[in-house]
Amino acid sequence: MLTQILVMAGVSGVCLSGDTVGETRVPGAAQAGATIQELMAGRVDPAADALWDSVATIVSAKGIEERRPRTAAEWKAVRLQALTLLETTGLLAMRGRRVTDKTAAPGPGELSAPEIQRRIDANHEAFVGFASALRVAGQQALAAIDARNPQRLMDAGGVIDTACEACHLTYWYPMPDSSAAAAKP
Ligand code: HEC
Repeated sequence: MLTQILVMAGVSGVCLSGDTVGETRVPGAAQAGATIQELMAGRVDPAADALWDSVATIVSAKGIEERRPRTAAEWKAVRLQALTLLETTGLLAMRGRRVTDKTAAPGPGELSAPEIQRRIDANHEAFVGFASALRVAGQQALAAIDARNPQRLMDAGGVIDTACEACHLTYWYPMPDSSAAAAKP
């Protein structure tokens, strides 16, 4: 391991190669950075919401609205969200990233922050695997956007949702029964 260390002062040290994410090259570099919770609230969630909201069929008294990106500017905006989503997965996967600074008690069905941290640290490769799955889903969204294909973008949205849930069900609100879905904020 030590032979792999590259000293890059001030550089986040995430290396993306192929379909794998997150090789930390500067041990502890994430310590001072954003927490997983901050990345979720500040980047992952807003980017995913923007993608999910960009394609929809909305049925109301006024009729049926087929929402989808149409103008070049709209496609460009949604492309930026897909890039934000998939590039944030590299930050999530960095070894040493703390789960949260919050000290608030966990909500019903949620694990405590120390327990989430323990599970991540116990098998970091597994956590990286969940981040990689989200990255692959984000790449599907990006490919759909580059093909200007709303249906494929909609499909990619489903894959993204599955990737979010898989990680949350493992680390955040693991419950064996169907009430797990109801615990999603
Ligand atoms: C690699 C694992 C992983 C993936 C993938 C993942 N999350 Fe998370 N997420 C977490 C963990 C762990 C927490 C719990 C952190 C906490 O709040 O203490 C969390 C918390 C959150 C929160 C609560 C943030 C807060 O302010 O408390 C939101 C919202 C969220 N995730 C949204 C998403 C969405 C949307 C996706 C998919 C686009 C996603 N997450 C994908 C691991 C993941």
